[in-house]
Amino acid sequence: MKAIVYNGPRDVSVQNVPDAKIEKPTDALVRITTTNICGSDLHMYEGRTSFETGRVFGHENLGEVIAVGAGVERVKVGDQVCLPFNIGCGFCENCEKGLTGFCLTANPGSAGAAYGFAEMGPYQGGQAEMLRVPFADFNCLVLPEDAAEKEDDYVMLSDIFPTGWHATELAGLVPGESIAIYGAGPVGLMAAHSAIIRGAAQVFVVDNHPDRLALARRMGATAISSVEGDAVDQILNHTDGRGTDRGCECVGYQCCDRHGHEHNHLTMNNLVASTKATGGIGVVGVFVPQDPGAQSELAKEGKMAFDFGAFWFKGQTIRTGQANVKAYNRQLAQLIHHGRANPSQIVSHRLALAKGPEAYQHFDARDEGWTKVLLKPAA
Ligand SMILES: NC(=O)c1ccc[n+]([C@@H]2O[C@H](COP(=O)([O-])OP(=O)(O)OC[C@H]3O[C@@H](n4cnc5c(N)ncnc54)[C@H](O)[C@@H]3O)[C@@H](O)[C@H]2O)c1
Ligand SMILES: [Zn+2]
Ligand SMILES: [Zn+2]
Repeated sequence: MKAIVYNGPRDVSVQNVPDAKIEKPTDALVRITTTNICGSDLHMYEGRTSFETGRVFGHENLGEVIAVGAGVERVKVGDQVCLPFNIGCGFCENCEKGLTGFCLTANPGSAGAAYGFAEMGPYQGGQAEMLRVPFADFNCLVLPEDAAEKEDDYVMLSDIFPTGWHATELAGLVPGESIAIYGAGPVGLMAAHSAIIRGAAQVFVVDNHPDRLALARRMGATAISSVEGDAVDQILNHTDGRGTDRGCECVGYQCCDRHGHEHNHLTMNNLVASTKATGGIGVVGVFVPQDPGAQSELAKEGKMAFDFGAFWFKGQTIRTGQANVKAYNRQLAQLIHHGRANPSQIVSHRLALAKGPEAYQHFDARDEGWTKVLLKPAA
């Protein structure tokens, strides 16, 4: 089968690789019809993780079940399914509590497994014609009858819609509150969409890319351009100097200043400054325990110059981590099915798998208009 293979920093190509197949009785085999490129892929694409060369990318996957193992009871051949990017076993202590992003058995010795992801187990990604889905009965979200018609909405349930929702959940958002979201990439835009659906009174989205900020504005959020002035000052001005009730980090450890220089503490310190005393901060942007490619000694060790004093003095809380996709995807699918959510509004490109390498280049450069790329291997 054809798949997008990682050859080294900023180098991917479409190659023939061995077909994905049923390896255990609890597996399903899915023919991929839509698979997205994610900001998480970019950390790996840029060579800023331990992702191995020769492996296949792709953790945002949707398709049709074409085979099931002898131990699969619920999922049937022909089902249209969306796969959470996390692989959970369903029976460990964390999966039982709904913390499927931290499964204890799918990636032994660590907590959390995913398709085509550094440090998250040996699983191949779905930027390919087929994907092996472990623990299929637990992991497959079988989609409603409008699966084909709303495919580009449902595929967002694999990661960024639940992740954006999770950011607002970690921040503790309740209706009527204000929230500031750092990052207008796909995840930040989905956090804004979620915050609006959840009844936030004011939603601010910070970035320096006008095209992405325009999408935030179209969704009903207030765009804060960090090019036009200090983001924190702008948010304080909009909130009578008090700061927002809630804040979300949707950028991650490669956050930049306006000149494009990385400082891993930038967004976290801005969040402390623009969130009110006693406010909550949700961090879904990825931070890593080691970052040998970083510029500063501190960042190389996965540490940052965090404004802990200000944070403590303001009595704020921070919650972090991978989104437990399964905790939300079923309900969010209903919002899509009944027309209350349309996450596909941020899609900028729908391309054949063969165009993947080109798409990686443009998305990685944050070229204007390249907000969210969907690859269509079956087209
Ligand atoms: N926790 C999870 O489960 C989970 C799931 C998916 C993605 N992620 C992570 O979320 C992050 C965002 O993903 P994405 O797909 O939206 O990526 P992206 O890289 O496309 O978007 C990041 C955006 O942040 C902006 N940005 C950079 N520095 C900034 C700053 N100082 N202030 C404000 N904005 C800044 C960039 O201009 C860009 O538009 C990544 O770290 C990704 O790995 C986490
Ligand atoms: Zn993703
Ligand atoms: Zn588990």
